[in-house]
Amino acid sequence: GRQFFVGGNFKMNGTVKSIKEILDNLNNAKLDSNTEVVVAPPSLYLLLAREHLRKGLEVAAQNIFDKPSGAFTGEISADQLKDSGITWTILGHSERRVILQEDDQFVASKTKAALDSGLGVILCCGESLEQREAGKTIEVVTRQLKAVADKVKDWSKVVVAYEPIWAIGTGKVATTEQAQEVHKAIREWLKKEVSDEAAEKTRILYGGSVTEKNCKELAKQADIDGFLVGGASLKPAFVDIINANE
Ligand code: 13P
Repeated sequence: GRQFFVGGNFKMNGTVKSIKEILDNLNNAKLDSNTEVVVAPPSLYLLLAREHLRKGLEVAAQNIFDKPSGAFTGEISADQLKDSGITWTILGHSERRVILQEDDQFVASKTKAALDSGLGVILCCGESLEQREAGKTIEVVTRQLKAVADKVKDWSKVVVAYEPIWAIGTGKVATTEQAQEVHKAIREWLKKEVSDEAAEKTRILYGGSVTEKNCKELAKQADIDGFLVGGASLKPAFVDIINANE
């Protein structure tokens, strides 16, 4: 079986005080020991999070740059994260693809850089409402993943997060059927384009308006191996989402 995985993407939210409170809540909670937990605060708070969070809970960056060091003002490298005890990074989040105009090739290049430095990667993909309505969901998602597969052969440290853009921050969660359909298609694509092993072992997370209310039903789906949580990861109920698979 695949180990259940729950990530908390704080996005550009939090203060020293509120992030410490969120982490204290996790430190003191009874968390399902079979679930891998990773929290991604804004880069300013990564070291604080690593120092404040108990052992066994991991910290992720929300982004990296694809060079190890040098004259790249404002950027952070995978090596620097590794050096700071940060073991994961989110890459290809739709907010970066859309607002910061990151293309598939750039996301793929950063994924390769992160993996080469030994980080785990939470690789996000997902379609817009317009693309879904045009029947292009699977085409869009597999195009996003193909750019990575062209550069990366070993997917053992990649976790895929399927996040339909229309479900992010909207309160409009995908139905269990909608999510399972895409997750299954991603797994079939992995089998065809990467390897049998990648298809069998890669965790595929769902993200988009996940709450303590809808997580249990989603967690029951055969190809849903966890969640990438935005808004609800800032609240005490994040604990219930981490424990959704109990
Ligand atoms: P919400 O859970 O706030 O919809 O955000 C999902 C997301 O984008 C996680 O990366």
